[in-house]
Amino acid sequence: MSPSEQSPSRTGNVELLDVNEEVLAALLNLALTDAIADEVTPPLGATSGWNDERISWFRDYHRAAAAGLNSPAGQKSWAVSVGGRVAGSIRLKRTGTTPPGVASLETGLWLGRSFRGRGIGREALRLVRAVAVGTGATVLQAETTAGNTAAQALLRSAGAELAGDGVSRAVTARIHLR
Ligand SMILES: CC(C)(COP(=O)(O)OP(=O)(O)OC[C@H]1O[C@@H](n2cnc3c(N)ncnc32)[C@H](O)[C@@H]1OP(=O)(O)O)[C@@H](O)C(=O)NCCC(=O)NCCS
Repeated sequence: MSPSEQSPSRTGNVELLDVNEEVLAALLNLALTDAIADEVTPPLGATSGWNDERISWFRDYHRAAAAGLNSPAGQKSWAVSVGGRVAGSIRLKRTGTTPPGVASLETGLWLGRSFRGRGIGREALRLVRAVAVGTGATVLQAETTAGNTAAQALLRSAGAELAGDGVSRAVTARIHLR
């Protein structure tokens, strides 16, 4: 793990916490009680909403990502903490070099419903952007959908260029880091 990933990141009362087992339990509790499963995990299992498969994926994902961007998983996740309360999660993932020579990272985040609309997403993205810059990445990407007004507004507010693919409802956001 690089020093920039290790150092505690904070602006105001928003802080990124490494995901240890205690933080993971708090994150899972928040996800189950204050977020929709589709906002937090891929579609998994035979039933809609939260199910055993999604909960297993959630635990496995955060445990693997705890090893950091330079691990085989090439991912790092944090809990977003506000005034000491776990409010959501944000992540970074290596995406290789596309186009060649452009080091690119992907980000994604979710907050508990009761923490949305208070500038917390903006601060969390600002913190993760600083981590991305510290890795030498030149582009930070995020994927969202045409219907996700909040995510698009957040990403635009962070300076992203948004583009649809003209076929699906997928929207790709690119933030140039230098
Ligand atoms: C997307 C999400 C992280 C935004 O976080 P947030 O803390 O609510 O956003 P903020 O309060 O920091 O607002 C950031 C900007 O987006 C705007 N915004 C936030 N929610 C909005 C909404 N529902 N409709 C329109 N604009 C919205 C704010 O006005 C602000 O704009 P500004 O900087 O120009 O003033 C949050 O809504 C969420 O967790 N959603 C579910 C998961 C998800 O969709 N994740 C995105 C994956 S990329």
